[in-house]
Amino acid sequence: MNHPILDIEKCTACGLCTQVCGMDVIVHNGNGHPTINRAAYCHACGHCVAICPQNALSIPGMIGDEYTSVRTPAISPVDMKAFLLTKRSCREFKERPVEKSVIADLIAVARMAPTAINCQERTFIVVTNAAKIAELRAALTKNIRSLLKLVKLAASKPAALFLPVETQQYMHHLQADLEVALRYMDEGGDSIFHNAPCLIFFTGVTKDPAGKDHALGAQHYLMLYAETLGLGTCINGYAQSAPRVLAKYLNVPKGYTIYGALMLGYRQHTYRKHVYRKPASVTYYE
Ligand SMILES: Cc1cc2nc3c(=O)[nH]c(=O)nc-3n(C[C@H](O)[C@H](O)[C@H](O)COP(=O)(O)O)c2cc1C
Repeated sequence: MNHPILDIEKCTACGLCTQVCGMDVIVHNGNGHPTINRAAYCHACGHCVAICPQNALSIPGMIGDEYTSVRTPAISPVDMKAFLLTKRSCREFKERPVEKSVIADLIAVARMAPTAINCQERTFIVVTNAAKIAELRAALTKNIRSLLKLVKLAASKPAALFLPVETQQYMHHLQADLEVALRYMDEGGDSIFHNAPCLIFFTGVTKDPAGKDHALGAQHYLMLYAETLGLGTCINGYAQSAPRVLAKYLNVPKGYTIYGALMLGYRQHTYRKHVYRKPASVTYYE
């Protein structure tokens, strides 16, 4: 990664950049200008550039426009809490397609989600083509049929001799879930993608232990931002659990795996009520 460059003419030696640099790249020099320690490893996280009130720092190769000032958000805790408590999965979408510019905007925000050592290694695959969505739906339906056979086996009485009770209970639930999904599909419904006009897949580096985190972080950023634009999303577990099936139909970059899958579209409904969730199980060390 490139180290930052300091424009001494602009720098007022306020010291903010040295306070936010977590990697000892920008070294405090008493009351003088900081110095850049080129021997230290720099993540190019951009904290120093973003905090400098004088625009005295830049990182080679990074577009300056990325650092334009944004209005400080005025989201109150009350608003934020209400937003999060009423953000629900969406399974009823308007027929309206999601504009390409809107999708690009969503991804521009999603790519800001944190990554380990600021590697930013993830890719996005967007499917709005109806024929491609139908192809994926058919492939996942076939996959669910095969999965159901295994799940039935695991939920059967003889399997109780080998599997823990909790696993068997889970298998019973899963069996019911998959059977309902397949019944709807057989009746011409779409219990996989719920007729969403857009699917977004999130990949991470297969061999990176944090690859999945990088994909899912972006997925959750996108899901939250989408709500503010009147869009709804729903995580697609059928797709997320079948990355190899998807890879047969989508151009997944070499070395990457699909870890996240979302349906996206304009919401038909919004929710105003808080719903029940199990009480949080928390351990405190005080
Ligand atoms: C890993 C994961 C997989 C999911 N898979 C599906 C899915 O395949 N289809 C679906 O309709 N919802 C799916 N969901 C959404 C959950 O059903 C939903 O989040 C949960 O019921 C809570 O409802 P809420 O999101 O509306 O608050 C999934 C959620 C997660 C976290």
